[in-house]
Amino acid sequence: MKGLILAAGRGTRLRPLTHTRPKPVIRVAGRPIIHYALDNLKDAGVREIGIVVSPDTRTDVQAALGGVEGARVTYILQEQPQGLAHAVRVARGWLGDDPFVLYLGDNLFERGIAPFVQAFDRGGPAAVVALARVEDPRQFGVAEVAGGRILRLVEKPERPPSDLAVAGVYVFGPRIHRVIEDLEPSARGEYEITDAIQRLIDGGHEVQGLPIEGWWKDTGRAEDLLDANRLLLANVEPKNEGRVEESRLIGRVVIEAGAVVRRSTVMGPALIAAGSRVEDAFVGPFTAVGPGAEVRGSEVEYSIVADRAVIENVPTRLQECVIGVGARVTSREGLPRAHRLVLGDASRVEIG
Ligand code: G1P
Repeated sequence: MKGLILAAGRGTRLRPLTHTRPKPVIRVAGRPIIHYALDNLKDAGVREIGIVVSPDTRTDVQAALGGVEGARVTYILQEQPQGLAHAVRVARGWLGDDPFVLYLGDNLFERGIAPFVQAFDRGGPAAVVALARVEDPRQFGVAEVAGGRILRLVEKPERPPSDLAVAGVYVFGPRIHRVIEDLEPSARGEYEITDAIQRLIDGGHEVQGLPIEGWWKDTGRAEDLLDANRLLLANVEPKNEGRVEESRLIGRVVIEAGAVVRRSTVMGPALIAAGSRVEDAFVGPFTAVGPGAEVRGSEVEYSIVADRAVIENVPTRLQECVIGVGARVTSREGLPRAHRLVLGDASRVEIG
């Protein structure tokens, strides 16, 4: 069984964060999202992993993965983002006729993906598709299921046939390549994996729909990143490897090596990453402060503060914030009493 992680997307809904880096390398609960994908594949016994990257995402994804242990990683270049089925076609040579897990690199699964691999290995289906019940299925692929078998799949339907969304993990046998070969692009101009799976079904092949266990998150929007951060932090093992002075650590708090916390309160679940500084501050529940970041004279709650970002003397508590790599939120003295903003394209600021 091989694994194919897709990490070539543009992540348009996460702009401005994705102007400068691909979504799978954004940190959630201290780790790039793609690390969780790799761990889940390894835990499911998958040792040969291909990662589909684009010319834009390649360098960042490779840097974020560094020296991966416990798996052999191959990078596969998708020159143009033309859809999930197109990514599989691009990887055809590397995949050969082996069965494989297709794993969308921005998806998170609380309990991993082993059940899907096992269901496939038990024999029979041409594909296994992970399904999750969601409130608004219109933004996903949606399945119509009978007795564990998928009858119909529709991509982002106006009128969903059920509340069962296609979660970002699929297991395929080699038959999928044949249907992808003569697939037509969809109305949005992409080669859809949902269309390819529908063709398998139409050809009389069994496609199994298996509900996920635990939570599942597609980290498409900033709100999803924050929610994923909350869910992952809730399970961290508390530890203190940094320097903590005149401070209170409450609940599940991780202080990584080289972090400094002074005259502050850190209320868990929270993570203060390596080399960061928290001084005269409150870092509240469900907050991850990234490597080398600084929080001084400020309060931050339910937020992600990325690598080397700086938050200094902000008079109002920051909440539900995603502060990008190296971004600065500070206050200044004197007149005029005005907000001074330098924001990248598609940035969002809500002033309370
Ligand atoms: C893709 C798939 C969709 C699936 C979703 C899960 O959509 O096309 O069927 O439900 O991933 O994350 P995307 O998020 O790429 O628009």
